Amino acid sequence: MIQIAVLGYGTVGSGVVEVINTNYSSINKKAGEEINIKYVLDLRDFPGDPIQEKIVHDFDVILNDPEIRIVVEVMGGVEPAYTFTKKALLAGKSVCTSNKELVAKHGAELLEIARERNINYLFEASCGGGIPIIRPLNSSLTADEIDEIAGILNGTTNYMLTRMAREGCEYEDVLKEAQEMGYAERNPAADVEGHDACRKIAILSSLAFGRQVDFEDIYTEGITHITAADFKYAKAMKKSIKLLGYSKKCGECFYAMVAPVLVDPDDPLYSVNDVFNAIFVHGNVLGDAMFYGRGAGKLPTASAVVADVVDEARHLHRNIMTFWSSHKLSLTDISNSQRAFFVRVKGDKEADEARVKEIFGKVSFIQIEDLPGEYGFTTGIMTEAEYEVRAERLGNVISRIRIRQQ
Ligand code: HSE
Repeated sequence: MIQIAVLGYGTVGSGVVEVINTNYSSINKKAGEEINIKYVLDLRDFPGDPIQEKIVHDFDVILNDPEIRIVVEVMGGVEPAYTFTKKALLAGKSVCTSNKELVAKHGAELLEIARERNINYLFEASCGGGIPIIRPLNSSLTADEIDEIAGILNGTTNYMLTRMAREGCEYEDVLKEAQEMGYAERNPAADVEGHDACRKIAILSSLAFGRQVDFEDIYTEGITHITAADFKYAKAMKKSIKLLGYSKKCGECFYAMVAPVLVDPDDPLYSVNDVFNAIFVHGNVLGDAMFYGRGAGKLPTASAVVADVVDEARHLHRNIMTFWSSHKLSLTDISNSQRAFFVRVKGDKEADEARVKEIFGKVSFIQIEDLPGEYGFTTGIMTEAEYEVRAERLGNVISRIRIRQQ
């Protein structure tokens, strides 16, 4: 029997218990041994819940119990999760987690400790909820040099953008719904301001490129400025608006960013709706691949965590994660990266047309009947820096949204 401990009995922690109870015999068969939850660490008590008899409030009970071979850290946040994880690994216990904040910040160090002790630190649920993406990057796509990752990596914002696009819902209402469904972070600013997606693209890029990508270095823009008017333009252009986490290798340069982008109908990311996430990967020999599934929510996330428990149970004395060096990968400033833009401008299109063309060159104009006093246009491809200079010269810009190039 393999004894495990679960740190945190919140949304994901209770999901882990539910998944293990629901699929008990098939999970044990796949693990090769019976998996038993011996402890659940939480500050709270849960009277009436069968879990109550396993609740402990002191992490040292778990740390000092030699029977515990696997620790499931689903507390979220950097502390005390970092201290607990490090202590558990140093004590020779494998750890698995859904904690993207912790993996993005200390992943390289924790992986190194696990490697030295020939145990495992696995984090499939940290990116894309229930979608297998860490394991494919670690073990299936090893023949490739990955040169691009583009993903819808946040279920909350994708749910919100989908509802706003389809039904013209108000931002606050859809955010509340996403919270009620257990998709949003404790502080939903992490979702809507893009920080959650930023940590996920930092993790995926570090794995794909083999060196530490610091999330603090990634240009990050959320969806807080996206309005119903933007969706009217998007609809007129037959495009959708998605919050994308993106990283790309161009020669010796690496770019990474998180931002809302306009996506064409023939782009595979166009039809990724609601809480679903998708991660598009390009490898130099594989070409394109896309991973799709539920990106947030109790059971999909718990499913990925429990899959890590099974993997750790099967490899109690063998490290299975490939190298992610703590050596920092320097990202190139995105002002040098190139793309097209959709621009909304306050003013009269007929009066401004010649000036817009003089500044931006070839553009396509879009006007929306019930948005008087403004117009929009799409530009050709230019660098971010060139765009900034031209937009400044034009003046009266209400907003701009990047357009994804496939
Ligand atoms: N708040 C996150 C999301 C949860 O909406 O994607 C899963 O990481």
